[in-house]
Amino acid sequence: MGKDVIIACDFDSAEKTFQFLDKFTGKKPFVKIGMELYYAEGPAIVREIKARGHKIFLDLKLHDIPNTVKKSMAVLSRLDVDMTNLHAAGTGRMMEAAIEGLTREDGSRPILIAVTQLTSTDEETMKNDLLIEKPIADVVMHYATVAKNSGLDGVVCSPLEAGKVHEVCGKNFVTVTPGVRFADGDKGDQKRVMTPAEAKKIGSDYIVVGRPITAAEDPVKAYERCVAEFCD
Ligand code: C5P
Repeated sequence: MGKDVIIACDFDSAEKTFQFLDKFTGKKPFVKIGMELYYAEGPAIVREIKARGHKIFLDLKLHDIPNTVKKSMAVLSRLDVDMTNLHAAGTGRMMEAAIEGLTREDGSRPILIAVTQLTSTDEETMKNDLLIEKPIADVVMHYATVAKNSGLDGVVCSPLEAGKVHEVCGKNFVTVTPGVRFADGDKGDQKRVMTPAEAKKIGSDYIVVGRPITAAEDPVKAYERCVAEFCD
């Protein structure tokens, strides 16, 4: 799997998204479309960004009964996205159904990755709200293992977990890591962060970077700096 920088296009309209993407006149970055933009603009935004030559990670985090997820994944697969995701908490059966739905007639399919525990969930919340008593690191690694055994390609995880995920699930199991900040940058609301260079060192396969690029004075330069630190 190729190392790449994925820009989180966390905008609430197509207009703002294209204003941003128009700045990139050279290399077309890999972009992440999340719930906010997808719910605002629908599948048309995916087709339009794809037609401009970008790779797309459609971050909709599916979680439902296996049959519903299978049928929804079939629809997303027809949108020709390059990567999409679901919640591992939906169970192994749901993940297997997702793979079935996602696989096209010619056998190809987008990369499918699982969200383990959201980084907004801490051990205390897991215990109190979900009645999960195990340490969070064990839960994350267990979910990653179930995802792997269900045929998924990888997980979304903190860059701090990427090394361990590779140890447990193998180095070809893809790690996609948000929470990336430049050494001299603003952390914003992210707590546990890493620089692109550190994420590279620890073995992340893809980094997802939002505000350090989207809110930069010169987003193209910020993107190029990420690529230079992470990919080169
Ligand atoms: O702006 P920033 O670089 O913090 O954006 C990170 C992106 O990654 C956002 O789209 C955020 O929703 C997503 N993300 C995250 N932490 C997770 C999962 C997804 O920051 N655990």
